Amino acid sequence: MSELLAADAPGITRAAALLQAGELVAFGTETVYGLGADATNPRAVAAVFAAKQRPRFNPLICHYPDQDAALADVVPNEIARRLAASLWPGPLTLVLPRRPQSRVALLTAAGLDSLAVRVPSHPAASVLLRAVARPVAAPSANRSGMVSPTTAQHVLDDLSDRIAAVLDSGPCPVGVESTVLDLTGHEPALLRPGATTLEAIEAEIGPIAQRASSSGPLRSPGLMASHYAPALPVRLDAVSVSTDEALLAFGTPLPGAGATFNLSLSGDPIEAAARLFVGLRVLDATGPAHGCKRIAAMPVPTTGLGRAINDRLRRAAGPR
Ligand code: TXA
Ligand code: MG
Repeated sequence: MSELLAADAPGITRAAALLQAGELVAFGTETVYGLGADATNPRAVAAVFAAKQRPRFNPLICHYPDQDAALADVVPNEIARRLAASLWPGPLTLVLPRRPQSRVALLTAAGLDSLAVRVPSHPAASVLLRAVARPVAAPSANRSGMVSPTTAQHVLDDLSDRIAAVLDSGPCPVGVESTVLDLTGHEPALLRPGATTLEAIEAEIGPIAQRASSSGPLRSPGLMASHYAPALPVRLDAVSVSTDEALLAFGTPLPGAGATFNLSLSGDPIEAAARLFVGLRVLDATGPAHGCKRIAAMPVPTTGLGRAINDRLRRAAGPR
């Protein structure tokens, strides 16, 4: 059972300590309750996906107490600086290129080179984020397929057996998720309409090229073409491996590969998820120097987080 913490000084101190220790803590923001984890701790981030029972790794938003902290993990452009100055703190999420030196775990953004950053305006969330002093990854605190929670009780109904604590800051004043704006391309693109209106954004940066809403859908976050895939081709369900292959192992590694990265020697799917994007990137970068022409991935059982791992490996192996 999870702890129900009041949003006072002792409650926030306790919530911050749990987050720093790698535990999951749900907390209220002005939009909806988030399921928080230390974004620099890949195992904590993997535990978020496990708790939500998401069938795939969607990129998560990183939450910060202020603009400076948020923009330090990304490479902001002029438009980002203008929106941050005028609309933060508030329910606007900006997707920007991730700063290469950022300590945010690769799993947080599902291996992408971008990072979604947000500075919530809810006072309890701000105090918590300042106390944690690390970026906090937080998707909405509901199981996959359920609606976003706007009270601590909603969170407990859905997740009480899977998280360490809920910081109860009362009902969320806004009740719909933040607006997600992608600033990584030539033109700003609205990825998710939300609590910050298009008008408020356009008042700062001028008209946003609409993704032809009558002739086609918005770029749906779940269907982004920008899923991370390694440059080397990927072969799935390897039961043997050759010297011109780099092995992505799970459990006891197959012998004979040109290079090997083990997702989890003990066969733990949470550890494997935490290491998945690091492993793909390491093999992609070092494999060719060892004469490897492709990545051979050992099978991962389709239970728990194994489902999301397999989803991602299938995409990496699919047509480009
Ligand atoms: O209001 C909110 O945004 C809440 C509170 C807790 O902050 N959080 C939330 O998170 O709604 P979530 O995980 O349910 O939705 C995050 C959205 C998803 O649509 C995801 O695809 C998109 O943000 N997103 C996150 N990182 C991204 C990235 N690097 N590139 C593109 N889209 C991204
Ligand atoms: Mg959600």
